[in-house]
Amino acid sequence: MDEMMALDFSMRFLHIATAICLVGGSVFVAYVLAPAANISIEQDQHDKLRAAIGQRWKWFVHLGITLFLITGFYNYYQAIPRHKGDGLYHAFLGTKILLALFVMFIASALAGRSKAFEAMRNRRGLWLNILVLTAAVVIALSSYVRTRSLTPAPTQQATVSETEVSKT
Ligand code: HEM
Repeated sequence: MDEMMALDFSMRFLHIATAICLVGGSVFVAYVLAPAANISIEQDQHDKLRAAIGQRWKWFVHLGITLFLITGFYNYYQAIPRHKGDGLYHAFLGTKILLALFVMFIASALAGRSKAFEAMRNRRGLWLNILVLTAAVVIALSSYVRTRSLTPAPTQQATVSETEVSKT
């Protein structure tokens, strides 16, 4: 593996690993931990648990956002020459980046203590659902642009099969 390939690999790995940790962690909190805590512990214990989890989780959120931005822009910079003139690729990826920024905004508003976002924290369950749903769309768009660039366009496929036919 040459140096450039090692860097590309590391950036892709870190990007996908960050998505797994942050989105996976949010799914676990929204659909396993919070509902279980709601039915099994008293309110004051619940508040203590939420505060203790929040203290630790906010470091994952801050590190995750930093990694998403570094690795995401690196991946995009690398992808630009490969997709020159492909307006649809940039439209899908642009939409994905905007939605990803929205996901990161929700995650940091929920993890932070700013008074401005207290209303969001008071409706944590709703905002966690919105975060998970938007993150799913972000992952779908990322996977779609990836699949699309790995699958040859129909005209290319036709040219390949025509060449193969003319050889026989
Ligand atoms: C919520 C945040 C994000 C999530 C969950 C996410 C998720 C993903 C995933 C799962 C992939 C891999 C797709 C595949 O290989 O099949 C990917 C690729 C990519 N992401 Fe993100 N991402 C996020 C944020 C960002 C940001 C902020 C940027 C840009 C600034 C970005 C740019 C890219 C690029 C350029 C690719 C490669 C697309 C290609 O294969 O052509 N991502 N992302």
